[in-house]
This record gives sequence, structure tokens and C-alpha cells, in this order.
Amino acid sequence: MDAYVVIGNPIAHSKSPEIHAQFAAQTGQQLSYERLLAPLQGFRASVQVFMRKGGKGANVTLPFKLEAHALADRLSERARLAGAVNTLKFEQGRIVGDNTDGAGLVQDICINAGLALQGKRILLLGAGGASRGALLPLLQQQPAQLLLANRTAAKAEELAQQFTEYGPVASCDYAALDGSFDLIVNATSASLGAELPPLPAACFNSGTLAYDMMYGRQPTVFMQFAQQQGALARDGLGMLVEQAAEAFALWRGVRPETSEVFATLRRQLS
Ligand code: ATR
Repeated sequence: MDAYVVIGNPIAHSKSPEIHAQFAAQTGQQLSYERLLAPLQGFRASVQVFMRKGGKGANVTLPFKLEAHALADRLSERARLAGAVNTLKFEQGRIVGDNTDGAGLVQDICINAGLALQGKRILLLGAGGASRGALLPLLQQQPAQLLLANRTAAKAEELAQQFTEYGPVASCDYAALDGSFDLIVNATSASLGAELPPLPAACFNSGTLAYDMMYGRQPTVFMQFAQQQGALARDGLGMLVEQAAEAFALWRGVRPETSEVFATLRRQLS
């Protein structure tokens, strides 16, 4: 049976085995998918051992996404631009690296939440790895503007510079934000500490979709703030499921249906 793993440290919390088991059952694919705890200094060795045992592919999670990028023999364009890899596919002893996080985000926003982004104003908060991975897939939707805002404005400027050839991207700090947006994506790590990026309330209007890449039992402080301004808020659970579906499609050549898996995970959270 074809074998896959999700590699991270820690890994016990990962929902990926459950998600991929449901995808496999739904699509009639015979495969195994397990958690693999790699030592902090042992990512490369763990991948190589799994490959030698006949493994077909792996998802990669914290803290190894940059190492997976460095390890890959070949990168998809989106993984190269993201600077990080969350999906590995093993092909005749070679390692192909991909990044499905940004595509998962866009799928959740455009298809599941039904917000077409062409011609829209997008505000992306944060200039770390999560933002980097989202930039190309968001720009490919041909928004009118994508503004990257960060506490440390120089980091946003440097990141935006790297994407100017892919679409209308600009950067600023929070104090310079002006007007409202159709989509605001929180790609900062602020929600982890129950903090709110210093966003003017005027960024939101009643048609704004406020998307937090984090998810949990309760709406994040960012989602609560957005709702107080009359905006619609959505957490990152759908992105989790969709990035998994993209990885599954890359490995198996069939894209699973995601709504049931999403509903199951949502029930488990409540
Ligand atoms: P990741 O790889 O998850 O994106 P990261 O590279 O550490 O993590 O980046 C975290 C991002 O969240 C950064 O953009 C950071 O802003 P700075 O570059 O100014 O540090 C942002 N961030 C973290 N806490 C924040 C907070 N309380 N308010 C606003 N932005 C915050």
C-alpha cells in the first residue's frame, strides 16, 4: 500500500492523518498516512529513511517547512516563491517540493466562501512565512490591489518587492492604512497570543471578508473585531482542509470533495 506521512515536531496534534484517511475512503484510494515525529536536528534523515522504506510522499509542518524547501531536488514555482515547502512527493528517488498552503487559502475564500477576488482590494497582514506563501496565489486571482501591511514596514516592503512582477502589490505600515478592503487576511502570528494587529476600524465595511489563517474553538480576536465593524469573519479551518486536498490531488491525481471533512472537523472543535 502507498505510504504517506506528516512530519513535524511536535506532531501529535496534527489532524492530517484523519483528513487524508477521509479523502482516501471517499475517493477509493488505497493508502496509509501516519504521523512522523522528526528530531529537531533530524528532519533530513527522517525523510531519507521514510523514502528508503518506499514512502511516496509527505506533508511537512512546523518547524521544518524551510528545511523541506532546501531538501527538495525540484520545486514548484509556488513553493519557490513561498520559500517554504509543505508537501513532498518522491519520484524515482528524487524529492519534489510543493507548497499548497496559499492555494488552500484561495480555494477556501473563492470557492467555499464564494468571494471572487478579480478586481477586488485585498489587505494582507503580516510579512512572515504565512504571508509569503499566500502572495502568489492571491495575485493570480487578479485583484485590483494587494496591500501588504506589517508592524515592521521594511519587512513588508522587502517582501512586496519580490512579487511586483506577479501583480499590483504594495506595502505600508498599519498607521498608513486608508479606506476599506473587500478581503483582509490575517497572516500574522498575533492571534496565537490573542493579540490584534493595530488595524483601523475603517479598513472594514459591511461587505468585507475578514479571514484569519488561525482557527480554534472560539473566534479569534481579529475575527471578533471584524464582526464588531459589521464585517463577515472566517477562520482558517477551511484552509487547513483545502491545503490537504491540494496535496492529495498532487499525490493521487484526484481532488477530493472537502465539505464533509470540513464539517466533521468543525463539529470536533465545538
Ligand atoms: P509566520 O512564519 O507564521 O508568518 P513569522 O515569520 O514569525 O511567522 O511572522 C510573524 C508575523 O506576524 C510578522 O509579520 C509579525 O510582524 P513583525 O514582522 O512586525 O514582527 C507579525 N506579528 C506578530 N505578532 C503581531 C502582533 N501582535 N501585531 C501585529 N503583527 C504581529
